[in-house]
Amino acid sequence: MATRIFVPRDTTALSLGADQIAAGIQTEAIRRGLEIELVRNGSRGLFWLEPLIEVETSNGRIGFGPVTERDVVSLFDHDFQSGNTSHPLCVGEVEAIPYLKNQQRLTFARSGITDPVSLEDYCQYDGFRGLQNALHLSGQQIVDEVKTSGLRGRGGAAFPTGIKWQTVLDTPDPQKYIVCNADEGDSGTFADRLVMECDPFMLIEGMTIAGLAVGANQGYIYLRSEYPVAHDILNQALATAYENSYLGDNILGSGKAFHLEVRLGAGAYICGEETSLLESLEGKRGLVRAKPPLPAIVGLFGKPTVVNNVLSLAAIPYILDKGGQAYADFGVGRSRGTMPVQLAGNVKRGGLVELAFGMPLNQLMNEFGGGTASGRPLKAVQVGGPLGAYLPESQWDTLIDYEEFSSEQAVLGHGGVVMFDDTANMGEQARFAMEFCKFESCGKCTPCRIGSTRGVEVIDRIRASEAADNNWALLEDLCETMVDGSLCAMGSMTPIPVQSVMKFFPDELRHGRQE
Ligand SMILES: Cc1cc2nc3c(=O)[nH]c(=O)nc-3n(C[C@H](O)[C@H](O)[C@H](O)COP(=O)(O)O)c2cc1C
Ligand code: SF4
Repeated sequence: MATRIFVPRDTTALSLGADQIAAGIQTEAIRRGLEIELVRNGSRGLFWLEPLIEVETSNGRIGFGPVTERDVVSLFDHDFQSGNTSHPLCVGEVEAIPYLKNQQRLTFARSGITDPVSLEDYCQYDGFRGLQNALHLSGQQIVDEVKTSGLRGRGGAAFPTGIKWQTVLDTPDPQKYIVCNADEGDSGTFADRLVMECDPFMLIEGMTIAGLAVGANQGYIYLRSEYPVAHDILNQALATAYENSYLGDNILGSGKAFHLEVRLGAGAYICGEETSLLESLEGKRGLVRAKPPLPAIVGLFGKPTVVNNVLSLAAIPYILDKGGQAYADFGVGRSRGTMPVQLAGNVKRGGLVELAFGMPLNQLMNEFGGGTASGRPLKAVQVGGPLGAYLPESQWDTLIDYEEFSSEQAVLGHGGVVMFDDTANMGEQARFAMEFCKFESCGKCTPCRIGSTRGVEVIDRIRASEAADNNWALLEDLCETMVDGSLCAMGSMTPIPVQSVMKFFPDELRHGRQE
C-alpha cells in the first residue's frame, strides 16, 4: 500500500516552501521507485515547525520539521517514508508533541489532520453532524443550544452569540442574512485564516446552521483581500458543498435553502468593524454606521443580519453535534468553551494554541511559546490586536478570561498575543498605536479622526521633551475625549495601548526616544 505523506498547504507553510518540498518528495519517490500518496493537509498551527511533513505509520503520524527543499533527499536517505525516526529533523509522533498534546482542541480538532477540501475527510472526522442535527430542530431550538453553550463572539466585543441570533430570529422579515467577518486585521492573529485554509467545511457548516437558526437563506464571507490562499480553498470547498447538497435550495433533501458566497474585503482595518463591513459589502466606502439600529435588526441591505466572526461560527458545528452543555463545560466564569490563542511577535515557538478559558497568560507565553525568540528577557506583551493594552510583567499572570482582562484595563479581543523583548521601545509603541488609528480611522467622527492626528503630534512632543508635563496632561485629556466621544471602538479603544504605556512604561515615553 502507498505510504501517505502529508505536506501542509496553508499560507505559512507555502511561504516557507511547502510547494517546492511537495514537488521534491514526488520527484524523489519516483526516482527511487517508491509508491507514495502525497496529501496536502492543513496546518496543525505549530508554526515553529513549519513546514511540518508527516508520514503515516502504524504508530501514528511521524513528523519532520522544519523541512526545507534541500532536506528532501536526506529524508529519503534516512528512510523517513517508512517511519524511520533517525533523521535529525524528526520530531517523533506529532500528536505526542507537548505543544499539541496539551491543548484542548474543539474548533481546531481537524486542523492539520485532514485535506481541507476533502469532503470525505471532513465527514470521516465528525463533519456535518451538527448540521444533520440542526435540520431536525426548530430555529428556536438551535438558538437555545447556542445560548446553552455560553459562546461569546470571538471577533472582539465578546457579545453572546445566542442573544444576537435571538434578535435576528425575532425580527420578522422574509429576507435575512448571515455575514461572516473574515477581515482578521488584528496584529499577530491568524486563527480565522487557519480555519478557512485548514477546515473550510466547518465554517460552511457553521454558517448554514446559523441560517437555519434565524431563517436566513443567504450568507456572505467577507474575506480580507490579503488572504488569497484562503480565498482559493474556500471557493473549492463551497463548490464541493454545493455539488453534494450541503448548500443550495434543498440542503440534504430537507427542502431548506442556504446559499453562500465569498466577497473580498476592501483592505482597510476599519472594514472589520461590523457596520463598516456591511457598508463595504454593499459596495460602498467602509464608513461606520451609528448604532442603533443594530445590524441584527437593520443590517445588510437594511435586512436583519447576523454578523459573526469566523471563530464564533466555526464553534457552532461542535455545539450542535455534541450539545451546548458539552461546550459550556470548558472554561471559567462567563467565558465558556475554548479560546484559540495566537502566539506571535518575539516568541520562540509561535503558533496556535486552543485551550479552555482560564489558563494564565504566563503559561501560554512560557510553556507553549518557550519565551522570546531572541532569548532576551520579555518586556511587554500586547494582547487583543493594535487596540489592546501592552501588559507589563506584573500582569502576566492574568487569566485568559474576558472579565479578568477587563479588570486589568486590557482586552482579549481576537486572542492575538504579541510578545516584545527588552529591546522594544515602549514610547515608540505608544506612538505606533496612535498613528495606527490616524491611518486607519474611517474619518466619520472628530475625536478619532482629528484626535489621533493630534495624538501623534503630542506624543512626539513628549518624546522630544518639549513641555513634557503639559503635553502629558494634554495626552491624558485627549485619550479621555477619544474614549468618551468616539462613535465606534476604533477611536474609543486606541487610548488603551497608549494609556498602558503611560501607566506602566512612563519613562520610556518621556525619555525613551531612540534616533
Ligand atoms: C476597528 C474594528 C475592527 C474590527 N475588526 C474585526 C475583524 O477583523 N474581525 C472580526 O470578526 N471582528 C472585528 N471587529 C468586531 C466586529 O465589529 C464585530 O464585533 C464582530 O464581527 C462580531 O462578531 P462576533 O460577535 O462573532 O465577535 C472589529 C471591531 C472594530 C471596532
Ligand atoms: S471612531 Fe474612528 S473609525 Fe470609528 S466612526 Fe469615528 S472616525 Fe470612524
